[in-house]
Amino acid sequence: MSGTKGARGRRFEGGLDALAQRMNASVDFDRRLLDADVAGSRAHARGLARQGLLSADDAAAIDRGLGEVRDALAAGELAWDPALEDVHMNVEARLIERIGDAGRRLHTGRSRNDQVATDLRLWARAAGEALVARLGELRAALVHKAAAHVDTLMPGYTHLQRAQPVRAAHHFLAYQEMFERDQGRVRDALARADVSPLGSGALAGTTFPLAREGVAAELGFAAVSRNSLDAVGDRDFAIELVAACALCQVHLSRLAEELVLWCSQEAGFARLSDRWCSGSSLMPQKKNPDLAELVRGKTGRVVGAWVTLVTVVKGLPLAYNKDLQETQEPLYDAVETATASVEVMAGMVADLTLDTARLARAVGEGHLVATELADYLVSKGVAFRDAHDTAGHLVRIAIERGVELAALSLDELRAADPRFDADVHGWLDPATAVDRRDLPGAPARPRVVAELARLSAELGLAAPAAPAPSPALATPDGASDR
Ligand code: ARG
Repeated sequence: MSGTKGARGRRFEGGLDALAQRMNASVDFDRRLLDADVAGSRAHARGLARQGLLSADDAAAIDRGLGEVRDALAAGELAWDPALEDVHMNVEARLIERIGDAGRRLHTGRSRNDQVATDLRLWARAAGEALVARLGELRAALVHKAAAHVDTLMPGYTHLQRAQPVRAAHHFLAYQEMFERDQGRVRDALARADVSPLGSGALAGTTFPLAREGVAAELGFAAVSRNSLDAVGDRDFAIELVAACALCQVHLSRLAEELVLWCSQEAGFARLSDRWCSGSSLMPQKKNPDLAELVRGKTGRVVGAWVTLVTVVKGLPLAYNKDLQETQEPLYDAVETATASVEVMAGMVADLTLDTARLARAVGEGHLVATELADYLVSKGVAFRDAHDTAGHLVRIAIERGVELAALSLDELRAADPRFDADVHGWLDPATAVDRRDLPGAPARPRVVAELARLSAELGLAAPAAPAPSPALATPDGASDR
């Protein structure tokens, strides 16, 4: 063997069984590590040269050759060879083909075990940072949409039953909270991934006096690993990153479900443009929210990826085991799926058109201000439990008469409790009801506006134009707007 055909070396006489080769090869998926692998090898080669373990000429040839191999593989000028098993051996073999003997010195003091652990951390960092950036764009889209709907009232729900009126902005900002936490979780995972395993060798370090810190710093790692057995056998960083992706996908799925509901003819609260919908091959009238459904549906694979990862690692003895190769595909798939889903969701949120008139009608139907009647009585000294009973009684009267609470006369209200006065009807206006909820975290207009200001500053958005101080809220005959 010339040293370019796999890592089985001269101990082996026969070739790998064809079936074994097919299951053993990872190059179909670990080619994603090409950039990371070349960066890691370049840093390793420079480190070897600095320690006098590689001549300056050899180091320069390796550096140049690695760049050429990377470009040729990326451009498809060089083919990936499954017989060479993985990205590491494809790159090394091509390097040796290209630069000869110098290339055969690159693997000094290194194993594919610390190499792949390093590459995966570099990949996780780049992919995780991209996810953080996309999440920032989704948060910005939600903030923009919220700013456009500070004065759009909509029903807030519990149990999918209309509960109390809220500002649509408050609803959008609820999702921004989730994605803000998701960003934090991804960043936390990346902070723990920010450790260089290079120099851990196959499992027990190396006899060569590598200067690990310098190589780590060159690759942008904050630290070097402290235990070689752990460093080559650890995939916690992948599990953590995928866990963050899984929860993020769950949040995306919840929002996607709302989009599907809102765009249904039953609700009619919102519309998505043709960019995010498809038709039916059979029913000409259909406009289906496919992308929202797909984002919701992809939750299965991202959550499944996390289950796959922890199951692969469970029960592995130290240190490296080939099982760990099985952690790669779920890592790639989860991060790539979550990132694409975040991008699609940002596009759909920006595209969403609310039917503000329909929302306003929905707020006015279903006794959403019943709590106000109870709160009113509490303001007159009634115990909340008693006030709740009275308000419930009045709701029943309204249902029996087929009217909303605001249509009950003062006499009818007073028959239930003489402490009702003429000002009670003002409390039953949904906008008043929302603005009476004026405490941190609640949907009163000044609270929502302050949240928008905070988020605009944090996300570096042009401050959302402060809506007029006493806005005309959308009325049932008002126009829809974005
Ligand atoms: N493709 C392998 C992986 O993903 C690289 C490490 C192989 N190491 C070994 N000792 N066979 O884990």
